[in-house]
Amino acid sequence: MIFDNSGFFDVLHVGAGTEKIANVEVIPNAPGQPNRFAVRDVKPTEPLTLKEMGGGEQAGGNGVLISQAGSLTYYGLHVNDAYVAFRDAVLLAPNDFDFRSDIADNRFQFPTSSKQLDQVIEFGEAAGLIKSRPVAKAACTMELKTSWVDATTVDSPDEYLIIDAQVPRFIPSGPDRLTLDPDQPTETLSLAMVGMHIAAPVVGHPELVWTTYEHVKTAPMGTYHYITTKSTAPVGTVSYPQEQGGWIFAAANTPFPDEIKPIAANISAVDNALIAADGSVAPQSIAQVNPWGMIAGAQDDQTLSSNTDLISLNVSLLGRMGDARDHYLQMGGVWTTGSLLSGQDRSNQRGGLFLANSTMETFRQWDPQVPEGKFRPQNCLDCHSTAPEGNDQRGNFGLAVSHIFQGMAAFTQTE
Ligand code: HEC
Repeated sequence: MIFDNSGFFDVLHVGAGTEKIANVEVIPNAPGQPNRFAVRDVKPTEPLTLKEMGGGEQAGGNGVLISQAGSLTYYGLHVNDAYVAFRDAVLLAPNDFDFRSDIADNRFQFPTSSKQLDQVIEFGEAAGLIKSRPVAKAACTMELKTSWVDATTVDSPDEYLIIDAQVPRFIPSGPDRLTLDPDQPTETLSLAMVGMHIAAPVVGHPELVWTTYEHVKTAPMGTYHYITTKSTAPVGTVSYPQEQGGWIFAAANTPFPDEIKPIAANISAVDNALIAADGSVAPQSIAQVNPWGMIAGAQDDQTLSSNTDLISLNVSLLGRMGDARDHYLQMGGVWTTGSLLSGQDRSNQRGGLFLANSTMETFRQWDPQVPEGKFRPQNCLDCHSTAPEGNDQRGNFGLAVSHIFQGMAAFTQTE
């Protein structure tokens, strides 16, 4: 896997940080070494909260997702060499790397032109970070987030991307909680990938293009419509498959949910426990609420054409790669007309306006019933915007679209 080779780094949480600025460190992938990918890594000598254990987590809030087969869902964060080089460049030579585009006055932005990228690559090569110029040039700065379940719990593991990772080990300590095992706080598991986010800038897009992928068996999708080539039935329909079973995160005969709330949440900083909101820590049924990043059931022209593009893209690729990648769908992407967003302005947003990954924004999938004043993102850009958080003065700071950039220490400096 590309994100497991030397061009990529694993990103681990090293302190609580804030909702929008995670304190992280980057760890190079070492070939032939046991994976330091550590979906959630525990330093056994110190008491750590789950947030500090490394890797990612469910977006917003502390919800914990448990699969039908009883596996916890684990999260990884990854960045490529050009991203690490750019982070170092901004820290060590800020005046030379304050990229801003003409259309917005945000300080510091990700490189979005060939010239800016060349400058980053030169810096990265001099620092010994970038080994392959063509690869860095093609990838630009890239960040990924991935989600995983225990590979022994899935049917047909050969249909999944599999990785070994060191993860925290939770054991039942009561009907309503799982506690980090004090004797053996980590274990190395073989994990099967269920979801992946990819975010990277492209020419003229400092807001990045935010795309997401899911394994075909994660969770049932809400009803959706698309354009067919048949003159008799120009609009095709795929209904929410209520009776169907075999999903990783949903039981058969589960109605389309009104709202998806975490069963296990409230990660306790005090005793390192995952605590059920009420009742017991148990698997729960979820859904891909807004199929292809659009509102379920919508038949407006924009939804129809967006659904059709994505279905056609997936259909033409599935089965062509001849490996586990044939079992993952691109659920969609979201971007803007080229401007950075500091609020929830949607007029210049394009693509999946309701895009979420059912394994990563499970409990934040937009639903129209949200009470007034309660924050519920409609898509990736609502959280990955330049809007300031609390006292943090990040407004007008283009790199704030990434939640890990500012909390990342310089790599070359700390070597
Ligand atoms: C509810 C807020 C929220 C939503 C919605 C959201 N994210 Fe995130 N995302 C976060 C937070 C917080 C982090 C950093 C912490 C972590 O993952 O541990 C993050 C991390 C990431 C990362 C890793 C690098 C970074 O920027 O921190 C990627 C890539 C990413 N998200 C992609 C997406 C995509 C794609 C979508 C939409 C399908 C999305 N996110 C929706 C809150 C959100």
